[in-house]
Amino acid sequence: MTESRPAVDMEKLVSLCRRRGFIFPSSEIYGGLSSCWDYGPLGVELKRNIKQAWWRAVVQQRDDMVGLDASILMHPQVWQASGHVEGFSDPLVECKSCHKRWRSDELESDKCPDCGGELTEPKLFNLMFKTFIGPVEDEANIVYLRPETAQGMFVNFENVLNTTRKRLPFGIAQIGKSFRNEVTTGNFIFRCREFEQMEIEFFVKPGTDKEWFDYWVEERLNWYVSLGIKKENLKLREHTKEELAHYARECYDINYLYPMGWAEMEGIANRGDFDLVEHAKSSGKGLNYYDEETKEHIVPYIIEPSAGVDRTALAVLCDAYDEDVADGEIRVLLHLHPSIAPIKVAVLPLSRKETLAPLSKEVYAELRQHWMTSFDEAQSIGRRYRRQDEIGTPFCVTIDFDSLEDKQVTIRERDSLRQIRVPIESLKNTLQAKLDGEDLFVLPEGGKIWKGG
Ligand code: GAP
Repeated sequence: MTESRPAVDMEKLVSLCRRRGFIFPSSEIYGGLSSCWDYGPLGVELKRNIKQAWWRAVVQQRDDMVGLDASILMHPQVWQASGHVEGFSDPLVECKSCHKRWRSDELESDKCPDCGGELTEPKLFNLMFKTFIGPVEDEANIVYLRPETAQGMFVNFENVLNTTRKRLPFGIAQIGKSFRNEVTTGNFIFRCREFEQMEIEFFVKPGTDKEWFDYWVEERLNWYVSLGIKKENLKLREHTKEELAHYARECYDINYLYPMGWAEMEGIANRGDFDLVEHAKSSGKGLNYYDEETKEHIVPYIIEPSAGVDRTALAVLCDAYDEDVADGEIRVLLHLHPSIAPIKVAVLPLSRKETLAPLSKEVYAELRQHWMTSFDEAQSIGRRYRRQDEIGTPFCVTIDFDSLEDKQVTIRERDSLRQIRVPIESLKNTLQAKLDGEDLFVLPEGGKIWKGG
């Protein structure tokens, strides 16, 4: 068996993302802000598509899940009850010579990795960002930027139960920003101080939790494969007893083979009844469920698949990156799955001649009703194809002089480089079928293969 290797080095990927408008350093004109990133015109589409694919899979296509969008600022007691005020910290050491700070649990020796200097004793550093609610900046008005979206779902358990009349097992799903004042940063968007999570809190009857835990591990692994990520670049890692979070009975990470090595993309935890019990104690509200069968009130157990949008975006970009040779030149391309590609179709008139403009614009206007479509008439057709390949556009539609006569256009496929000619009237349906995964070379009525190989 061959060892898996990262598909691309980080420098190449960062450069592509910067050059093509996927991801920029935050506040770049001021020199950037450490571990904060801005998603550019293509990055925002990629991220939206990832979130949409997740929502479709876990909310839209299921009977047992509902969505939520809780506020980022929450009552400070939430973070007392959850254990974050007490325990959401990293052990921090400082170099006595160069004053650089490090997480002591990530160091391999007791010397500064940069200058070899002596380190201070570790101090616990809470990762939550603090701010104040209202005009007075005192202890009584401290609030936190949420470090996870999960708590919004626990504290709304009763609201959701009462308004949706869901029965166990059921889940709440949420996508939103979270903030952590991370000590160790770097590795591009892998570890940010502001990031987005896609979290599920799935409430089950105690005793069925193991079964549901296994179910969600499998389900979530398959979701990444459905996004086009190669199976050999995904691995499950079980947490040891020592590293389990204070709330977890069992936890698996879904790791991806990033350029810097295997690292966590999603964590799936069996949280037992920890959260509902703690919030019930702290709020005085009975957060439980009336079981019609046994006529008893029970506190459900919670299975939590918790994914990161940014880490998923990084994984799909790494996994899609490729270089091959086309027309004797090195071609950089992203084999992005059509469902997440930022631009689905590019309309390319063969030349800038006036005569092609009206039909090209007409085709463009029609296609953009359905998908993110781009129009490009600058430079040679070969260069324009390369530009689309580099951003992962699965299909280009070329309008040439024959199109004016025969009302047909050419569809060119990014991965195989093959082309077919189809009537304009069936273009939308053909592209839809291709985007839904149908083989490009199953021809629509009136279509023909234009060029092979
Ligand atoms: N509610 C559980 C929870 O938040 P976590 O393992 O701390 O668990 C879940 O975070 C996911 O959130 C991670 O697997 C990762 O994808 C993402 N994540 C966490 N911290 C992050 C950071 N600093 N930057 C980017 N993504 C992060």
